[in-house]
Amino acid sequence: MTTTTDSKPLVHAVNVHKAFHGTDVLKGIDMDVAAGEVVTLLGPSGSGKTTFLRCINQLEDINGGRIWVDGELTGYVDKAGRLHRRTNKDIARQRREIGMVFQRFNLFPHMTVLENVIEAPVQVKGVKKKVATATALELLEQVGLGDKPSAYPSQLSGGQQQRVAIARALAMDPKLMLFDEPTSALDPELVGEVLKVMRDLAKRGMTMIVVTHEMGFAREVADRVVFMDAGVVVEEGPPSQVIVNPQHKRTKAFLSRMRQEEAAHAEALVASVTENAEALAAIAAADAEHDEAARAAIENARDASQQR
Ligand SMILES: Nc1ncnc2c1ncn2[C@@H]1O[C@H](COP(=O)(O)OP(=O)(O)OP(=O)(O)O)[C@@H](O)[C@H]1O
Ligand SMILES: [Mg+2]
Repeated sequence: MTTTTDSKPLVHAVNVHKAFHGTDVLKGIDMDVAAGEVVTLLGPSGSGKTTFLRCINQLEDINGGRIWVDGELTGYVDKAGRLHRRTNKDIARQRREIGMVFQRFNLFPHMTVLENVIEAPVQVKGVKKKVATATALELLEQVGLGDKPSAYPSQLSGGQQQRVAIARALAMDPKLMLFDEPTSALDPELVGEVLKVMRDLAKRGMTMIVVTHEMGFAREVADRVVFMDAGVVVEEGPPSQVIVNPQHKRTKAFLSRMRQEEAAHAEALVASVTENAEALAAIAAADAEHDEAARAAIENARDASQQR
């Protein structure tokens, strides 16, 4: 954790409110994230996690409160206490500094991996294609896909596609990365490779806000866990505190539900591995029987020819 008491937070959210059609979804969220800090956001479905990430990234307008990113008020300029909406161009500039990775990878299907990664730097930032390509190849190496620049998304597994999506976000050289359940659409055996890339990114000092149900990741990688419920922050602190020893009854209930789900997943995984192992054993047995029969046939033929 790189927090120091005198440094300004990279994300400074104060009393953020958001309503959809008159229904309050965020009811006064305060959150600071220091540069280099990894915060995981936990909470039941509908608690407002995605909405909060979308507000930070200005995919949603907020109805109250303020959000600063790297010292700059997002969406507005404060002129002597009065807020003036930023121009679209200025908002686009602010948004470029934030990378976002969603549950679904949203890669362009008609472009290769490399083309997907260089698209925004070349088209949006005006980076020279050659320079963008060199950076993209480095990033693909970093996410373990150095051998796949020419592949198309449909030729990749979900885990590989999600790693391309991460490389694509990193290609814009963001100050902050937002992850919204990046592994929840993946088959269980592909989750680990994506979490590894995220863990490496955290080690490199990237500031990250991660919505995830992966408790292991939260425990190992997060500097801080924030538990949200019904549009408010209920509890926050280091994972050793919030996950291991939650104080609030809503946090306790949520975590015990998560543990049950995790246990059920693990059981399903073991069952499928066992099933696979049994199928392989059956194939091996059939092969052995076939080999045995073949050997016997050869020996019979040899005997027959010797008797002639
Ligand atoms: N564009 C929208 N229009 C109307 N209501 C919305 C919109 N986006 C979100 N909501 C509502 O806001 C609430 C919070 O949604 P949000 O997606 O932020 O929850 P979440 O914590 O991310 O849930 P999940 O874990 O299921 O992803 C929900 O009740 C949702 O129905
Ligand atoms: Mg969500």
